Amino acid sequence: MTFRQARWDEPLLWDREPSDDDPRPVGEIPGLPTAMRRKARVDWPEISELEVVRHFTRLSQMNFGIDTTAYPLGSCTMKYNPKVHEVLARRRGATDVHPYQPEETLQGSLELFWRLERALARITGLPEVSLQPAAGAHGEFAALLMIRAHFREKGELERRTEVILPDTAHGTNPASAAMAGFQIREIRSKEGRVDPGELRAAVNDRTAAFMLTNPNTAGLFEPDISEIGEIVHGAGGMLYYDGANLNAILGITSPGRMGFDVAHLNLHKTFSTPHGGGGPGAGALAAGETLAPYLPVPRIVKRGRKFALDYDRPHSIGKIKTAFGNFGLDLRAYAFILAHGEEGLRHIAHRSVLNANYLGKRLGTVLPRPFQTLVKHEFLLSGAPLRARGVRTLDLAKRLLDEGIHAPTVYFPALVEESLMIEFPETESRHELERFVEAFTRAVNDTPENLHAAPHNLAVSRVDEVEAARHPVLSRKDQRAAAKLEGALPDAAPR
Ligand SMILES: Cc1ncc(COP(=O)(O)O)c(C=O)c1O
Repeated sequence: MTFRQARWDEPLLWDREPSDDDPRPVGEIPGLPTAMRRKARVDWPEISELEVVRHFTRLSQMNFGIDTTAYPLGSCTMKYNPKVHEVLARRRGATDVHPYQPEETLQGSLELFWRLERALARITGLPEVSLQPAAGAHGEFAALLMIRAHFREKGELERRTEVILPDTAHGTNPASAAMAGFQIREIRSKEGRVDPGELRAAVNDRTAAFMLTNPNTAGLFEPDISEIGEIVHGAGGMLYYDGANLNAILGITSPGRMGFDVAHLNLHKTFSTPHGGGGPGAGALAAGETLAPYLPVPRIVKRGRKFALDYDRPHSIGKIKTAFGNFGLDLRAYAFILAHGEEGLRHIAHRSVLNANYLGKRLGTVLPRPFQTLVKHEFLLSGAPLRARGVRTLDLAKRLLDEGIHAPTVYFPALVEESLMIEFPETESRHELERFVEAFTRAVNDTPENLHAAPHNLAVSRVDEVEAARHPVLSRKDQRAAAKLEGALPDAAPR
């Protein structure tokens, strides 16, 4: 398959010439009461529906998306989002309700939340669940506030100021802990896993929590999890589970069984709800007995045959989101769980582990694999040998785009030099895996010149990423300012 991305020279809608034969000229709407008429014109482009459709279709053709190509982004778990979920999420019962309607009129929505919470409690092995957090990192932050509240009540908050993390931790873990007011203490891994000796040396009566994802971001299961739990609990700390990697253990084991006190889940990863571009997400939070009283309010409760929002939780950290959760995503996640059932969910774990190990074995002959062992849902490669040819992992990532495959996660985790973190979830077929092996091998063996200049076949070639991050052009105003700097536009005020 040869990949060529469309390259449209597509102006913003505002910058288009208004079409002469505009089929719907703006005019007075007959019968509209005077009080409802605008006093001034709105600065919107006057174009037809057809032009709008073509505009957005062209833009979509210059984009990468899960519907056109595989996304082997380790840690981010980009899996197929079943289209039947979209049909469900667009039904009137889902779209025409408002979270602040009277409770009696929200019974269906509350029941759905309640049932999803029950399903997630069973999956996590932790008895109480809240659907309020809007993303994984938001779930982490909320859980750390719960841990704070717990120690405050015990009179230990002054003392318990530290959160310990392994060096494989996802970046949001230390960021959330710092935002919740804790100091961070990082411990070194041994062969990609937590070293119980290092952990034992790090815990003390200042330890508030240890944050861990299992399997970790190297795709490795932490076999010493029971000992890790004993060490942390023995020091009086809480054990936090980052559930972004739940994919790999779904229906096989659970955070509760492993001894964790609290866990966040990324419904937008494991449970196949759409994500990317910053949202929307859903970071369900599950807690064991010690921390459950601190979960955000309102809690959804069943009283007889009715469902209600319960705010009467004196220990709760309070509300952390305007509504009660991202309803559209929760609905999709619930549909996913029901469609698979217990056996199907377990099959997901088996398939994602099989995919990762198959691919790891094949690609381990192309680039070195730092941890030559059975992995769970993802694995690492090192692009370090490419350096001898003046090529970096970043070049390889860009070159893969030319093959019509999204780049894997690169330069994370930092414990591997020039790392690539690859995850092909259970929704990808053997055919797609083979295609990736071929594309990856071709890319690695390409000439340094070609690799440096990649991508060649995309709508946009290599951009200056530092410049893009420092001076993002996100609005029409930014665009005009940037163009003016380059002398491309007359000195016109932004509209
Ligand atoms: C291991 C891990 N933890 C936490 C997060 C944060 O989740 P979110 O992006 O939903 O905030 C991610 C996201 O990539 C992750 O991979």
